[in-house]
Amino acid sequence: MDAETRATPDKAAPTSTAPGWTDPPPHVPPELVVDFCRFTDDRLRREPHRRVSEFYATLPPVFWTPRNGGHWIAARSSPALAMLKRPDLFSSDPRHCPAMVREPRTNPNQYDPPEHTQMRAVVGARFDVGAIPALEDGLRARARALIAEAAPRGRVEFLSELAQRYPVEIFLEMAGAPLSDREALLGMVERFTRAPDLADRLAALRELADFLEVYIEERAACPQGDLLSAVATGRAGDRPLNRGEQRGMAALLFLGGLDTVAAMLSFIMDYLARHPGQYRRLVTEPDLLPRALHEMIRYFGVASMDRAATGDFEFEGLRFRAGDRISFTTQTYGLDNPRIENPLEIDFDRRMAPHNIFGAGAHRCLGAHLAYAEMRIFLQEWLARFDHFEIEAGAEPETFSGIVWSPVAVPLVWDPSVLRDPPDAAAKGDHG
Ligand code: HEM
Repeated sequence: MDAETRATPDKAAPTSTAPGWTDPPPHVPPELVVDFCRFTDDRLRREPHRRVSEFYATLPPVFWTPRNGGHWIAARSSPALAMLKRPDLFSSDPRHCPAMVREPRTNPNQYDPPEHTQMRAVVGARFDVGAIPALEDGLRARARALIAEAAPRGRVEFLSELAQRYPVEIFLEMAGAPLSDREALLGMVERFTRAPDLADRLAALRELADFLEVYIEERAACPQGDLLSAVATGRAGDRPLNRGEQRGMAALLFLGGLDTVAAMLSFIMDYLARHPGQYRRLVTEPDLLPRALHEMIRYFGVASMDRAATGDFEFEGLRFRAGDRISFTTQTYGLDNPRIENPLEIDFDRRMAPHNIFGAGAHRCLGAHLAYAEMRIFLQEWLARFDHFEIEAGAEPETFSGIVWSPVAVPLVWDPSVLRDPPDAAAKGDHG
């Protein structure tokens, strides 16, 4: 935050000529205006979960920032949950807010009920908790193969070499697409999630949808029972999905589970490498893993999303105008529950504490069960081989703070001569 644009509770709203700066509109009271950029604020660079949570605790639970075109931020989980449960007021439909428009319109997250309900049903059952056991062997084989490739080297940049590859491979398997597509997809994802320029990011999304459309066309002609076949033959109520809806759904199913899982798993591995005592407990007490993972997921939220006000109205004492954009920073929605004791501590002995880092309401993450399974299985496979690993000397825990928060890099090192052998290749779940 620079000197001339400091947050000024109880004073006139701050003003500035910074790029993207929009002076607050008349319906926003000055005491709710806070100069906070959700992409560049200094607190986001290091330990963002702790630092942003501490900062948010000093602010109104929902505030308005003049940065990035001007928008609300639902900073605390309690008002956020109430808002997310009112899609009639806080809509996901980009037609209410030009800043949310993209091509393709991603599906189902950019649709409101009742259309959203029909769209989500096209693939919903494939991500239900009951569908996960059938996927576990495949997840385990992928995790095991990636770890086996890295293990003899004694060093890996975890984010790019393992964490990003793992969900891409899982998607390719679920989509019935060949592994040879992996590098092309990784390139598009890198641009979509990291390009500094919005136009570049949107171009990468279109390119990704074009890429997946080739599969959609093939599956429409010859359905095969995989995820993209479900998209290609899906129906919204009594009509087939049109091509735009199919493109938007394929792109979201790929992207939704990619950067999020890669980023969260990387935060977790960075944490475990820097806290060998906690890692050791997982080695010696394997039954602790589900609870410990839940606790780390609660702490390391990664995603944020937007909604647009559908009209002029008052909600819980705040005045909104049609087209107002509201950003929901779920990254910290596991850290502000007053019923959790010391929420900024990662405590593996804590009873599973509630969190909302997968969102809430009709759009609650479709892939939450899959994400849990992916991370649990990856950690089980890692624990099976490594007694000890470390963060490379001198590596600072820097964070990239886009729509998805992520470590910039997680360089891990270990002594390859003391690794445990790979689990028995004949063991259940080993396909690789
Ligand atoms: C740690 C991992 C993940 C996190 C933190 C996460 C977070 C979220 C959040 C916060 C939402 C709500 C968006 C909104 O309300 O607009 C969401 C929706 C969604 N997520 Fe995830 N996600 C993760 C993994 C996955 C995975 C593995 C998939 C697999 C395909 C996935 C697919 C989706 C889809 C399709 C939606 C849209 C749901 C709807 O609009 O009904 N996510 N996710």
